[in-house]
Amino acid sequence: MNINVNSARLNHSEFETDVLAGLSRPQKTLSPRWLYDQAGSHLFELITTLPEYYVTRTEVKILAKVSSEFAAEIGPGATIVEYGAGAAIKVRFLLDALATPYEYIAIDISREHLGEAVKSIAADYPEITARPVAGDFLTRPPDLDLSPAGPKVGFFPGSTIGNLSDGEIRGFLTGVRGQLGADSYLVLGADLRKSADILIPAYDDAAGVTARFNKNILVRINRELDGTFNLDDFSHQAIWSEEKSRVEMHLAASGDQVFFVAGRQFFMNAGETIHTENSRKFGRQELHDLAGVSGWDMVRYATDDRGYFAVMLLKGR
Ligand code: AVJ
Repeated sequence: MNINVNSARLNHSEFETDVLAGLSRPQKTLSPRWLYDQAGSHLFELITTLPEYYVTRTEVKILAKVSSEFAAEIGPGATIVEYGAGAAIKVRFLLDALATPYEYIAIDISREHLGEAVKSIAADYPEITARPVAGDFLTRPPDLDLSPAGPKVGFFPGSTIGNLSDGEIRGFLTGVRGQLGADSYLVLGADLRKSADILIPAYDDAAGVTARFNKNILVRINRELDGTFNLDDFSHQAIWSEEKSRVEMHLAASGDQVFFVAGRQFFMNAGETIHTENSRKFGRQELHDLAGVSGWDMVRYATDDRGYFAVMLLKGR
């Protein structure tokens, strides 16, 4: 399977440009998209199994409950497009429920993820065409060359929209609507606002896996960009901002720091942080409005008993 032989090199220089720009800002910032190299993806998989991290478990429960209802609304012969396929586990609920789905398209920046996702779906669903598309669906939506027949269904679970700003969410949702067309569908997962007593442990677990996940971005910079971060000089922080309705992940410097990345020198004062992720927590009205201004009607909104997470079925206008 020849996906894109240059992707590793292209991502690398993009990684460097992005990291150098982020570390040069008054509030040092690294984009969460760089958390997911091989080690980071593995650590995230571990996070999804932690007792404190309710997110994945809750979403899977909702998907199991609503998939047949969503599938009935969508109808037969569908093309499913997964944005950021990862291991392609959750999409199986939808594929199992849909009547004679026609094609599964996985979009991911990581060639490894793509290969695995498509191989596993092809093996378990021989009647479905499975196709990998390498690309960054957030910044440059790739051309999908969709079949004109049958309903188109986007799949974007996991509350990955929580990593994005309002503008980026609208840009993504508008882009997907443009790509999939009028009368298409989007199955969208979003984490909901809840007490900080539940949120903080979910992002700062007792076993320290999230701390390792966060620090792995420094490991990656050390390895790929000749970084000189000393990991012991940084500590993981998870902060709930009520005002911004988000959990922020930071890496806080324990003392004054001097480090190099790609030949450039940076300084930090003790206590200063590198902001690595926002994980926004939404309300129903907010999700309804974000969908609405981006060309989508919310036709289903499903949550779990505790109201922790929402899985929505949006329909393109
Ligand atoms: C994959 C973006 C949904 O925000 O909950 C988990 C990533 N960060 N623990 C999230 C994450 C820290 C996760 N998303």
